[in-house]
This record gives sequence, C-alpha cells and structure tokens, in this order.
Amino acid sequence: MSGYILAIDQGTTSSRAIVFDKDMKVVAIGQKEFAQHYPASGWVEHDPEEIWSTVVWSVETAIKKAGLSAGDIAAIGITNQRETVVVWDRKTGKAVHNTIVWQDRRTAEMCLELKDRGLEPIFTAKTGLLLDPYFSGTKIAWILKNVEGAAGRADGGELLAGTIDSFLIWRLTGGKVHATDATNASRTLVYNIERNEWDEELLGILGIPAAMLPQVKDCADDFGLTDEALFGGPIPILGVAGDQQAATIGQACFEPGMMKSTYGTGCFALLNTGDKLVRSQNRLLGTIAYRLDGKTTYALEGSIFIAGAAVQWLRDGLKVIDKAGQSGELAAQADETQDVYLVPAFVGLGAPHWDANARGAIFGLTRNTGPAEFARAALEAVAYQTHDLLMAMHGDWKAASSATVLRVDGGMVASDWTMQRLADLLDAPVDRPTILETTALGAAWLAGSRAGVWPGQATFAKSWALDRRFEPAMDSALRERKLAGWQDAVRRTLSA
Ligand code: G3P
Repeated sequence: MSGYILAIDQGTTSSRAIVFDKDMKVVAIGQKEFAQHYPASGWVEHDPEEIWSTVVWSVETAIKKAGLSAGDIAAIGITNQRETVVVWDRKTGKAVHNTIVWQDRRTAEMCLELKDRGLEPIFTAKTGLLLDPYFSGTKIAWILKNVEGAAGRADGGELLAGTIDSFLIWRLTGGKVHATDATNASRTLVYNIERNEWDEELLGILGIPAAMLPQVKDCADDFGLTDEALFGGPIPILGVAGDQQAATIGQACFEPGMMKSTYGTGCFALLNTGDKLVRSQNRLLGTIAYRLDGKTTYALEGSIFIAGAAVQWLRDGLKVIDKAGQSGELAAQADETQDVYLVPAFVGLGAPHWDANARGAIFGLTRNTGPAEFARAALEAVAYQTHDLLMAMHGDWKAASSATVLRVDGGMVASDWTMQRLADLLDAPVDRPTILETTALGAAWLAGSRAGVWPGQATFAKSWALDRRFEPAMDSALRERKLAGWQDAVRRTLSA
C-alpha cells in the first residue's frame, strides 16, 4: 500500500498534516490549532512545545484516519509559517525562548538603528529584503541579547537557531539533522540569495554565530529519516519549502510571469521572475521561489500582514459574524453609497509601505454604518492591498503586463463575493483552482517527485485545474473613486 505522501503544514494558527495518494488526491487531514501569545503590544509568540505536539498529533491523526501506517508513507514534505524563529539547545532539543512569530514587531527599534547606521542597502543587496522586524535575523539577535546566557552558549556551540522547518526537522530526526531549504533561508535577512550561502558580514552585524544555523538544501532533497520511535517506523523527509513558496509550487507557477496570491492569516503575492533576481524599485521583496537540482528560481513578493486575520477580527473582536464563511454574505448586504475604509494595520503595514509603527484605522463612518459596512471594508481592504502589490509589481517587472492572471488560494477564496470584488478592484481576472490545498500540495509535490512517486514538473503543472475565473465587472469610474479613497485612507494611517 505504499506510495502515499504526507505533507506537514505548520502554519501561524494551526498545524496540519495531509495524506495524499499516488494520484495526488487528499485522503485524510489531521489539524490542530494552538495558542497565540501576545506578551506585549506588537509582540506575538508561540510555544515551541505546542507547535511540536500539534504537529505530532496531526501526523498521527492523518495517518490513522487514512487507515495507513508509517511504512505506507513514501515521503514527508514540510511547509511552514516563514520567518518565525526558534533557538534551541543542541543536546536537549528544548527551546530557550518561545518562538518569535513573523508578525512580531519587537525589533522595530533594532531595525531603525541599523537603518540609521546606513546598513539597509547592504542587507537589501545581499538578501533581497528590507530592514523590517518581519524577518528572522533581528528576532534571533533579540533572543541572543535578551535571554540570559544565550549569547555565550551560542558562541560555545550549545545552541542552534532556525525557522520552524529546521526545528521540526531536528525534532523529527531525533536531533540528527540540522537543515533548512533555500526558500526558508531566503527569509532570514542573513542569507545571500545570489550566492546561496549564509552571509558572514550580515551575521557579524547581527551578532549571530554561523555555527548555530542549519545547512541549506534544495527544496527537494534528503532531509533525513524520522525517528523510528515517533510514528512506528522511519519515513524519509524529502521536501521543504516556506508556505508561500510551497503555494507557488502548488499553483504550478513555474513560468516567469506567473503569479499567485494566498489569502491566509496574511496575504502573500509571489510573481515568478525566473532565474533572474529582480531588484525592486517599489519596496517589494526579492526572494527565492524554489531551488531544484541546484538551480534557483526567484520571485518578487508582496507581503500583506493582515488578510484572513481581519475576518477573524470581525468574528472574535467585533463579533459581527459567527463563522469566517459568513463575511462575504454580510459584505454583500452593505450600502454601496457609503465609503467606509478599513486600513488593517493591526501589526503595522507590510509591502509596499513597510511601516512597523502604523496601527489600524477606519474612515468614513456615518450614523448608518453597521456590521455589513464593516465586513465589506475588511474584505475590500484585502483587495485594495493586493491592488497596491500588483501596481508595484508592474512597476518593477515590465514583463508583468495587465494580462497577468492572478491564481488565488487560501481560506478567504472560498467566498465568491470576495473574489469578485478582488477581480473588480484589480481590474484583472482572478483564477480559483479546484484544489485549494495548494500549500500542502506544493510541499507534497516536492517530496513526492523526489521519491519518484509523483510526476515531474511539466506533468504536475498540467494537472492544475480551474474551478472558476472571476472577470472584472465594476464600472471604471466607481473603481477609480474607491481606489482614490483607499489611497487617502492609507496616507492618513501611515505613522510618519
Ligand atoms: O511570511 C509569513 C507567512 O509564511 C505566514 O503564512 O499562511 O501562516 O499566514 P500563513
């Protein structure tokens, strides 16, 4: 019965494990949410032990639900929330601090100091990134500086550091392998994405000993075997990619000019730029889309921190809906004559503004404004921000024309209203595929193709199938008016 592939998707709010069969169909899913910790304003942490226990639980559950055992699983692919860091003890495997999550803003001041020292151009030239607390490097530096004894222990080789994938690989292999893949490394702020190596100069600036860091491998590679004691037999780990890159792969965006946007907690749009690293003039990121057989493919990325999280806020904060799925329905009832704009800068603003200190704002309230207008404003904010990213991409990469079709995935794309509004405000078609588990699928393809169980890139790309294309239908005068209103709202929200 072997030939099944298991994808571990360790996300920001839950851990998931998904078993696929040899025909790339989902057979079973195990999923568990875990706690978010907000120890101070703008700080976000996870308990590494909870991350680990929810991953193990999800894997066991998915394998059991599928009626399989470890021996039936040909390979594991790992995908993960990116940038989030763990620092742990090489001997015990115990973390010395909670994970510092990608959304966490505690290193905003450290980033400002580095900028004041004129260092941003060096970081950008080497990593494609900007000096923003979003990325891993300053988070690792913060732990080394603030956890008693950590810096000394790191120097002495006692501590290891990495993104969530490497922490999981370490635990899954029983402490035998300290490795990551090129996509996760490309989010750390200390990895030279053109030379494909950890950068000594940047590590020196941040005070991170190189010996703490994992070996960087291709996305489809040998990442070791799971410890036999864990799942009742060893399973090879053959694929790893950060979740947005895994979704790019799962969406089969393998050609330059192809673009996907994933609407999870945040929204991340990646445009494949081929073997060329495009240097953004519009404050987008240059990043590694994937590295296969030693060959690097690059992407331009626009990162928005709040997308689905705004829907969670409607549900848990404002309590105007019971379930996330109701947001589109409620928004559809909004009064179109009211110009209400929500700028969801709950944890600052990402691309293209990169304003860590901005905080959320709402504009245009009247006595008639109610839950429906709030819901519409929250969903439209996601579309407006995607529009801003698309404009920046067009500015950076001339080959990205208005003919660019956006392939979408993530929880929010189930809402037809939201997808139609997205197409309307982008004035571009939006393609929703039949398989929405694109992140897990991408990780599974890396592992499955490496194991020889799944097809190669070209055949896999042909298996991508369209569920529905949303064509823009909004009157252009209305669209222009709404976009102008949004730009004004953003201007008024920026911190400086
Ligand atoms: O860069 C952060 C991103 O990887 C998080 O993704 O799906 O957990 O919102 P998600």
